Amino acid sequence: MTISEAIRQRKSIRDFKPDPVSQDVLREILETACRAPSAMNTQPWKFVVVTREALERIKRENIEKLRAGEKFNSEYWAIGWSGDSVYQQRQVSLAKQIFQLMDINREDAKKRSEWMERGFRYFNAPAVIIILTDKMLKESTPFLDIGAVMQNICLAALDYGLGTCIGDQGVMYPEVLRKHCDIPESNMIVISIAVGYPNHGFPANKLQSSRESLDTLTKWCND
Ligand SMILES: Cc1cc2nc3c(=O)[nH]c(=O)nc-3n(C[C@H](O)[C@H](O)[C@H](O)COP(=O)(O)O)c2cc1C
Repeated sequence: MTISEAIRQRKSIRDFKPDPVSQDVLREILETACRAPSAMNTQPWKFVVVTREALERIKRENIEKLRAGEKFNSEYWAIGWSGDSVYQQRQVSLAKQIFQLMDINREDAKKRSEWMERGFRYFNAPAVIIILTDKMLKESTPFLDIGAVMQNICLAALDYGLGTCIGDQGVMYPEVLRKHCDIPESNMIVISIAVGYPNHGFPANKLQSSRESLDTLTKWCND
């Protein structure tokens, strides 16, 4: 697989087989991913790898909070745009495509909330990587660097036949992760990545999300 093929092949996987991912494989993926560039080689990332019983406890508590309507406490907000923007249009278009594949009717509140819960269950993945940064770097915004390592994780996982889904839903109750993973106060919880062997039969895993045409995104400045 060439690098371009890997980039084109990567896509969000939203259901996984229950087969565990070995710790050796997870370690290799992270070691490769850490070759990501970072400003002045600051490497402003840390990882918590959650599996087995710890993951089950976190999923249970996430769902309890979600069902109780507890407010989200994300430490880093990956989402937030105005309702009349192109970003909102793209979000709606994605949701429509997923709901169509999953046969979820707009009015079907039960199925919609089941879909929502899926993200807080890390899409049934057997392993979840939580990316942390150092709170002292807040002002220098280490998030470009975090994005590079995040993408590297998703690409490196492909080499092992693994799928991934980046999830901000998975870190919307950071207090749950803090409690079960003993995350120090000095660290900020940024994002989660679900990792596992894709369930290829799952309808939403067939989604090929759309992209804006390059011509609307690019200005060529030559002379
Ligand atoms: C920062 C970030 C947060 C995301 N959070 C979620 C999430 O909470 N739930 C989800 O289903 N997908 C989530 N995604 C996946 C995006 O929806 C997905 O990347 C996008 O629709 C493009 O599709 P693709 O990954 O299949 O190419 C997230 C992606 C990023 C980069």
